[in-house]
Amino acid sequence: MRKKFIAVLILLGCIYQSNGQQNIINVLDSGRKTSLRGLCVVDDNIIWASGSNGTVARSVDGGKTFEWLTVQGFEQRDFRDVEAFDANTAIIMAVAEPAVILKTKDGGKNWYKVFEDSTKGMFLDAMDFRDRNYGVVVGDPIYQRIFLATTGNGGETWKKSETTSEMEAVFPDGEAFFASSGTNVKFYNGKKPFFYIVSGGSHSNLYVSYIQVNTLPINQGKESKGANSIDINNKLQKGIIVGGDFANDKDTTGNCILFDFKNQFQFYHPQTPPHGYRSCVEYISEKKLITCGTSGVDISNDGGMNWQLISTQSFHVCQKAKKGRAVFLAGANGKIAKLKTP
Ligand SMILES: *[C@@H]1O[C@H](CO)[C@@H](O)[C@H](O)[C@H]1NC(C)=O
Repeated sequence: MRKKFIAVLILLGCIYQSNGQQNIINVLDSGRKTSLRGLCVVDDNIIWASGSNGTVARSVDGGKTFEWLTVQGFEQRDFRDVEAFDANTAIIMAVAEPAVILKTKDGGKNWYKVFEDSTKGMFLDAMDFRDRNYGVVVGDPIYQRIFLATTGNGGETWKKSETTSEMEAVFPDGEAFFASSGTNVKFYNGKKPFFYIVSGGSHSNLYVSYIQVNTLPINQGKESKGANSIDINNKLQKGIIVGGDFANDKDTTGNCILFDFKNQFQFYHPQTPPHGYRSCVEYISEKKLITCGTSGVDISNDGGMNWQLISTQSFHVCQKAKKGRAVFLAGANGKIAKLKTP
């Protein structure tokens, strides 16, 4: 009897321990009429999310509570990306017709326009900031040239880049950028402020600023296929790209590429790819990474070589705190979650 009791205790202990070592997705808020694709985690307490139906959400207590707001005058707009600097200051990007960027300095109570462009065919996809001042916004090609605008003053003013260099890539029909998570552009922390951008559709390429570097060995050739997200680890001089086919979101064909940019952009595939189409990828540490998409969430503990499905819940975007350890996710129906790590 006593032996059995001890055996049960040991068993319970094992179950408890193995649970304790799992990565768990903890849903914090959901059930709202918005599809969230923009997410910015300033630190472990301050989280901003943005989405369709003019919606912005903000938490200043680590996600215990969210304040939801609809940006006045922009109730129908789709804010596909948000970049935040603190609890009060953030920038949101409405994709098209006209493309608009708004900024708040009072926690979202008031927003003012810092960029507007009504060029036909204009479609903004994503923003990234190197620091509090210097940032870039990427839009779909217009007249076969990439749309880029940069800011040097924290998004107060934006300057369209007018590159006329022969180096500038010419886009074929059907190649564009996905606006699925605001993460297909990423600064490289080098001496010069340049950034990596990944494209999809008829072709999927990697661009350094506006110059094409390489065709990506990723699933492509159709509107729903291609690279959706890139993350860079400056210290390792490595990067990772995810995507696939959003119209077939359990397909794992060519949905993830690792690369080494120290070594002339050598691309390689993971041994165990993420379990389906993925719209966002993020380094949590040098070894640990997270990726998410409509068919689930995967974690890698070995630098992106092998991926383990930790949830089949749908998310569009996952982000780690810029200053901190917390990792949050967001998706359809106003769902916001936190990754609970062992
Ligand atoms: C936006 O709001 C409308 C009206 O309430 C709703 O029908 C629609 O589903 C919402 N969109 C999303 C993506 O939730």
